[in-house]
Amino acid sequence: MEPPRRPTMFDFHGVPMTTYFTDNWDNVQNFKARPDDIVIATYPKAGTTWVSYILDLLYFGQRCPERQSSIPLHERVPFLEISLPSRPAGKDLADQLPTTPRLIKTHLPVQFIPKSFWEQNCRIVYVARNAKDSAVSYFHFGRMNNAQPDPGDWSTFLQSFMEGKVVFGSWYDHVNGWWGKKQTYSKLHYMFYEDLIEDSGREMDQLCSFLGLSPSAEEKERVLTGVKFDNMKQNKMTNFSTVQIMNQKVSLFMRKGKVGDWKTHFTVAQDEQFNEDYKGKMKNPTLQFRSEVSCASERVPTCD
Ligand code: A3P
Repeated sequence: MEPPRRPTMFDFHGVPMTTYFTDNWDNVQNFKARPDDIVIATYPKAGTTWVSYILDLLYFGQRCPERQSSIPLHERVPFLEISLPSRPAGKDLADQLPTTPRLIKTHLPVQFIPKSFWEQNCRIVYVARNAKDSAVSYFHFGRMNNAQPDPGDWSTFLQSFMEGKVVFGSWYDHVNGWWGKKQTYSKLHYMFYEDLIEDSGREMDQLCSFLGLSPSAEEKERVLTGVKFDNMKQNKMTNFSTVQIMNQKVSLFMRKGKVGDWKTHFTVAQDEQFNEDYKGKMKNPTLQFRSEVSCASERVPTCD
């Protein structure tokens, strides 16, 4: 079978997009949220799948165990704006979710979020990841995912990333836009991938407190085990192995799961140029990212 043609990017209200995320635009914008909907919002490759699975297990791990083994995570937590040819649109999957709450994933920058989510005062979990690891992860994702434009070679992609000429636009605008929203919208929980790597238990406790959940110690342990990188990598319901448009022979979806893999990709010159450019774009001192974490704790097996 012919591999699908890769899409091209175009400017969409100031943000580079492909038709896979704009074809269903009016329906997405008119999405009818419910007050108990929970949105997982991220710039691509920030750990969306990881946090989606944490939420899914927290809410439904015990209530609907059969869903865990029969329905891939990306159907349990639909991707709101996606519409691929001959696939159900993410918006329709979200509409049809039988669960309460509904968990809904989006990569939209804050200004594109359908207004109903704000009107209904929905909870939103935003996950952010440092720019360098995001760029590396996005590069490999572009290589393996035929629904993405061809990323070119690493240095070409890094340049495009710095210029914001990648799908869903500028990382810098995305993380800053959502950070700004957090200052006025109290139902937004802003998390960092690096914190999750450093101490998943602590981060899960904070998430539960935001969501008003109080799982037992046993339940928490069950969730933490389920969402470990190696377990998600083996799990067919979370590793995207059922998604044909991704060629996992090129690069695995569950690729490395680390902080600091950028060091194996950036040359010294690229790092210097990136840091200089970063300083000019990330002027808000209250929003700080870590591109390395030191992990002393033995509780953190993903951090080696
Ligand atoms: P890498 O490509 O750096 O390995 P998203 O779900 O937003 O597309 O993000 C995917 C990135 O999150 C990938 O990063 C993937 O390996 C990482 N990831 C997914 N689940 C993880 C987990 N349980 N622990 C650590 N990283 C995880």
